Amino acid sequence: MKILMCIFSGTGNTMRIANSLAAELDSRGYLVEVRRICASMQKPDMSDFDMLIVGYPVHAFNAPTAVLEFLKGLDRVEGKRAYIIHSSGEPLGFNDAAGITPRRILTKKGYEFLGEFSYVMPYNIIFKHTDEMAARMWNSALARVKRDAEKIAACTQSTRRVNVFKRAVSFVLRIEHPAMPVIGRRFKTDKDKCIGCGKCVSLCPLENISLVEGRVKFGKKCVGCMACSFGCPSDAVRISVLNGWRVNGGYSFDAEIADDEQVCKYCRKSYIKYFHESESNENEIQRKL
Ligand SMILES: Cc1cc2nc3c(=O)[nH]c(=O)nc-3n(C[C@H](O)[C@H](O)[C@H](O)COP(=O)(O)O)c2cc1C
Ligand code: SF4
Ligand code: SF4
Repeated sequence: MKILMCIFSGTGNTMRIANSLAAELDSRGYLVEVRRICASMQKPDMSDFDMLIVGYPVHAFNAPTAVLEFLKGLDRVEGKRAYIIHSSGEPLGFNDAAGITPRRILTKKGYEFLGEFSYVMPYNIIFKHTDEMAARMWNSALARVKRDAEKIAACTQSTRRVNVFKRAVSFVLRIEHPAMPVIGRRFKTDKDKCIGCGKCVSLCPLENISLVEGRVKFGKKCVGCMACSFGCPSDAVRISVLNGWRVNGGYSFDAEIADDEQVCKYCRKSYIKYFHESESNENEIQRKL
């Protein structure tokens, strides 16, 4: 089976998971190609593939607009299967609503939608998790990737029901879609900090940033992926009204893994539940091996 994975990832979390899932599927004998959803991406020719896996970060309990545009641009197909994978900063059930629209579009395009898999990864906005938390999240994600690769290989159904309340909250927060280009237009750089390196230009998946005579300019196509503010080596990007939530700098996923005592206070119970569930999956897989 040939699988195409099309992944949107602002700050690398979703791509990290996708690459690890691709390696797991590859080790089971599948041919997997991973492509990045970005401004320069060509529409994929699905006649070369049997299955499509679409991946993205959850943005305000929804899929980012770049992903919806990508899905809308796909040709109609017959007899192709599809899964979704998404990463989110917290393990809240509201994030399940982020699969509703992509699922609808995929089904409309003729795909047999088999389900979705979610992974908790460190925040790239709101606040910075500790490296120890990031390491535990990654450890959990790896256990889930092994389990999910087995499910994908067996074409197991993994759909989920999203209740009316979660749907309603997600629908209201879709305001993020028209709001983000307006907010992004007002992104600025701190002139005292910016060193004109151009890293933000190359990081932006939407080609929304340009460097003109050493000055950074933001365009009208921002989807709020945070690649620019997260990845700037000088922490020079200011994200307008969201600036109080700015997170800068990467995570070290190799740190010592946080124990339950070190789990952050925010959503503490949900994180611990998620970690324990993932770790019991890991033990189950180890037993099978
Ligand atoms: C604009 C924006 C909105 C977000 N909304 C949510 C959310 O609703 N729920 C959540 O759990 N995480 C949310 N996050 C966190 C990201 O989903 C999370 O950090 C993800 O792993 C980032 O993936 P990436 O590195 O592939 O872009 C949001 C991040 C951004 C930038
Ligand atoms: S990455 Fe940061 S320092 Fe480099 S040009 Fe962009 S804003 Fe300036
Ligand atoms: S301007 Fe920044 S936040 Fe907006 S799409 Fe580009 S990299 Fe992402």
